[in-house]
Amino acid sequence: FGRKLHLLDVIPSTQDELRRLAEQGAEEGTLVIAEQQTSGRGRMGRHWVSPSGKGVWMSLLLRPSVPLQMTPQLTLLAAVALSRAISREVPVEIGIKWPNDLLVGGKKISGILLESAAEDERLRYVVVGLGISVNLEAEDYPEELLEKVVSLKMASGKTINRSDLIATILDEFERLYDLYMEQGFAPIRSLWEAHSVTLNNETLLYTPQGPIQGIPRGLDGTGGLQVEMKDGSFRTIYSAEIGEVGP
Ligand code: BTN
Repeated sequence: FGRKLHLLDVIPSTQDELRRLAEQGAEEGTLVIAEQQTSGRGRMGRHWVSPSGKGVWMSLLLRPSVPLQMTPQLTLLAAVALSRAISREVPVEIGIKWPNDLLVGGKKISGILLESAAEDERLRYVVVGLGISVNLEAEDYPEELLEKVVSLKMASGKTINRSDLIATILDEFERLYDLYMEQGFAPIRSLWEAHSVTLNNETLLYTPQGPIQGIPRGLDGTGGLQVEMKDGSFRTIYSAEIGEVGP
């Protein structure tokens, strides 16, 4: 991964740039990195703060020849790869909040956005967008975000070498992707569950069908989140936003 590298200065979004390259036939492993994004995108159409030179804003192209329904598994794989890579480079304890936010001390340090194109129910390509708040300082964030987000530098007290971090991310990604292609989802599922902060806690999930509250107990074989409801029954969730369970 990363042998075809497009290193750019200021662009709207690495996602758009890589999707354009993917449509032109770019090969698996192609990587787009930007120093700064002017329209960085997050999940649910949110804006992603991407100031110059302080973060890792990049998109990686995958071309897995698997059915479209496997996309949730790749989402979870991305979270495990990124959390393992960061742990190798920076002395911080990382927790994965379902499906793929990485937290340090309960605050978000990284977000992942998967965008895919499919044909005949099979994935044609997946653009994996990775946003990591590396060397940002408190003043780089809008005030209201500070209680929810943190950078690796703020969390560890150390300035992090971004090139080393990117190399380690590619290494972990390639390893886990190979493992997934050889052995399927089972090993990824165990790794994700071991790093999760979502499991076994009372959780409010805003699903497209409305909010549900329950206790996530684990992943199923397809990558869905298995939530135990008050009456003891289980529901499998593929898409939702986790909310606060307030008093
Ligand atoms: C989220 O947590 O909402 C996902 C954030 C993903 C941000 C990354 S930064 C690189 C890539 N380009 C984008 O415009 N977004 C992703």
